[in-house]
Amino acid sequence: MVETPLKRKDMLGLRGMERAEIQTILDTAELMREVSRRKVKKVPTLRGRTVVTLFFENSTRTKTSFELAAKRLSADTLSFNVATSSVAKGESLMDTARTIYAMSPDAVVVRHGCTGAPHLLSRAFPWSVLNAGDGVNEHPSQALLDMLTMRDRFGSLDGLKVAIVGDIAHSRVARSNIFGLTTMGASVMVAGPGTMCKADLASLPVERAHSIDEVLPKADVLMMLRIQRERLGPAVLPSVREYATFYGLDLERVQRARPEVIVMHPGPINRGVEIAADVADGDRSVILDQVTNGIAVRMALLFLLLGRGEDAPTA
Ligand code: NCD
Repeated sequence: MVETPLKRKDMLGLRGMERAEIQTILDTAELMREVSRRKVKKVPTLRGRTVVTLFFENSTRTKTSFELAAKRLSADTLSFNVATSSVAKGESLMDTARTIYAMSPDAVVVRHGCTGAPHLLSRAFPWSVLNAGDGVNEHPSQALLDMLTMRDRFGSLDGLKVAIVGDIAHSRVARSNIFGLTTMGASVMVAGPGTMCKADLASLPVERAHSIDEVLPKADVLMMLRIQRERLGPAVLPSVREYATFYGLDLERVQRARPEVIVMHPGPINRGVEIAADVADGDRSVILDQVTNGIAVRMALLFLLLGRGEDAPTA
């Protein structure tokens, strides 16, 4: 019997989360990874439980990964398609949520363009809410899968130097990673154009670098970010070509990095903008390991939130 120290109803963010909790999630994810390596990729842990995905913003990786994670734990899944739903007829978030809640799901995985939308749904109903990205605020499962990928490569997060490069101000991935990584003893440097590094950076525990070239010789991890066009106003970016020249990761830059450096990206990638195609597909890239680890981390989260008192699958 696994006693879970994750004494919480929801997974809303990594800000304020304790080191022991993050450790438990990553250790549980390692166990879950074994399930995905089996021929029959399914355990009965969450049989009879229902997990709903509710995405108000586009997604490829996160939504499919949560759905597969729930299915591999034998939960029933329902994917609520916002584009074809009554949201298009003007239904509010709370009315949509009330309707879904009336169908008795145990957990809802929500992505929304507004900061705090998952927190609102958590307060309104007793279900478990998993934040799959709320505006520019947090994307905890992404940061956890990133941390698992780093831990796989380096054995520990303690003392690791992680550089996050690009559109920091509009990135919920950056914020969740900053909170999680610093709690686990890593240090975080950020580099990006001034217009993409404003927000509340001064209040975050990061070192601000002024160019990608400054972080290259120091970083164990280079985490590249997509420019969040959907969240940018005009006049933040003179030209994509200029961005690629000053902040894009190409092979020449990788050669100036530490030999053991790993290159990460949460996806979707824009080849030739923040990352060159030969770097994305190259031997330092762990982008597809991140995707694989995403399922394991989301299985761990669903298990730890919904499966209290259940046996964790063993290897
Ligand atoms: C990220 C997101 O949605 O915040 N993507 C993801 O979940 N893999 C990053 C992005 O969209 O750039």
